[in-house]
Amino acid sequence: MTGPGDRLHRATRGPMAGTVDQLDAPFWSTPRELVEHMLDLAGVGATDRLIDLGCGDGRIVIAAARRGAESLGIDVDPCRIAEAEAGARAAGLENRAHFRTEDLFETSLDGASVVTLYLVPLTNWLLGYRLQRELVPGSRVVSHAFPIVGWPADEEHVVEGRHVYLWRVPAEADRPAPAPIPFGTPA
Ligand SMILES: C[S@@+](CC[C@H](N)C(=O)[O-])C[C@H]1O[C@@H](n2cnc3c(N)ncnc32)[C@H](O)[C@@H]1O
Repeated sequence: MTGPGDRLHRATRGPMAGTVDQLDAPFWSTPRELVEHMLDLAGVGATDRLIDLGCGDGRIVIAAARRGAESLGIDVDPCRIAEAEAGARAAGLENRAHFRTEDLFETSLDGASVVTLYLVPLTNWLLGYRLQRELVPGSRVVSHAFPIVGWPADEEHVVEGRHVYLWRVPAEADRPAPAPIPFGTPA
């Protein structure tokens, strides 16, 4: 990771970072109707390659695979990945819905056209710089619940009281300046 959050990132994550003992977001699931709304918002279809960073039980990845998208779910918790793989097998979608036990901060975004998030504000902020720099123009990012500080969303919807945000990655020249660290500079 390179960017304005790099020092803060190292300072806040600590030695157990990226393990089940120190999650960067707890396990909550996106309601299934909202999953479809997120995929509609990003226009997910058969030509897309979707990554869900922190995939939980894999419901977003499996729903995207059902639409024909090549999909990858990342979770640091092997129990979540086992559930997700079982779900993909039960749906007969294991050829398009893939899962990996991994720290999402180590995941390559190469080739992704859609990234989905249901994390927490600090984790979104730490990821925002990479998403803006590494995704190709025209890629979409959809977040359930939380915005990305310093990156104004293209669309925000409220569905049954839950917020959903959409960003379309702009051409390099039109990208916003890196957001300043929002809560002081770590020593
Ligand atoms: C709020 S849940 C979202 C689950 C799913 N995306 C959904 O919307 O239903 C966040 C997930 O992120 C995973 N997670 C937290 N920190 C992580 C990390 N550093 N790397 C990979 N996964 C992580 C948790 O295990 C949890 O399953």
